[in-house]
Amino acid sequence: MSSETILLSFENLKIDRDGSVAVITVDRPKVLNALNTQTLDELRRAILALKHDDSVRAVVMTGAGEKSFIAGADINELAVQTPAGGREHAIRGQHVLDLIEHMGKPVIAAINGYALGGGCELAMACTIRIAADTAKLGQPEINLGIIPGYAGTQRLSRIVGRGRALELLLTGDQITAQEAYRLGLVNRVVPAAELLAEAKKLAATLAVKAPLAVRFILEGVHKGLEMPFPQAQIFEATLFGLVASTDDMKEGTKAFLEKRKPEFKGR
Ligand code: COA
Repeated sequence: MSSETILLSFENLKIDRDGSVAVITVDRPKVLNALNTQTLDELRRAILALKHDDSVRAVVMTGAGEKSFIAGADINELAVQTPAGGREHAIRGQHVLDLIEHMGKPVIAAINGYALGGGCELAMACTIRIAADTAKLGQPEINLGIIPGYAGTQRLSRIVGRGRALELLLTGDQITAQEAYRLGLVNRVVPAAELLAEAKKLAATLAVKAPLAVRFILEGVHKGLEMPFPQAQIFEATLFGLVASTDDMKEGTKAFLEKRKPEFKGR
């Protein structure tokens, strides 16, 4: 299915194409783009469709309006959840974020405002995070008497380290984009007016890299980090060997020797 086909069936997402870059915008500005069940399901379908669309080589994820990226899970749904329902909700959210992380293509989070709770968790599942200088990030679940459920306790600890993660998780404090940069939670901070252009520019830069090599780097980092070091090294070596079977390796090395730009085809 092409992304153009699925785009019609979304109520809470917008998908735009700019060449080989797809931009997903979570579009519920009245509730600061909070993620309800329907939006999560739409995200799941959109990500799968873009993953399988070979003409898409990089994705930008952002929120509608100027105020918010995603202000978390929809608290209206959280307020009435049962224990079994809460477990299911968390598993569903974790699954969608795993799909983002394992999409095999770079996903740039363009954090245009509040990235709180599930919004911060979703940004952490992206490959690279760029924040507007006006953005605020945090895991405020503790202030609702709950805890993160979309793997926030895990990804935050892995990205910023255990001590910093525990402080953010236990205080529930919102931090500025600059503070998030200092902690290593975002890769860079740009003026709000330039955010989307910067994110698209980076996505376009990554979109012309060899797609299989990109996928193997993503796998090497994400899967390898969960393995003991010696196994991760063997895993990397195997991916290194596998990449040697691609046309793109031949093209990349040949183009270098011929002093021209390579043209990668993803084969
Ligand atoms: N779920 C459902 N609705 C939400 C929401 C969420 N996570 N976040 C914001 N909204 C709604 C508000 O209820 C409000 O609705 P209303 O206009 O019908 O009253 C609307 O979005 C605007 O939010 P508001 O709180 O008025 O904006 P603000 O500028 O005063 O504050 C925030 C912005 C982000 C600080 C505040 O909305 C907030 O704390 N949101 C919840 C964040 C959170 O705890 N997320 C984790 C959930 S697990």
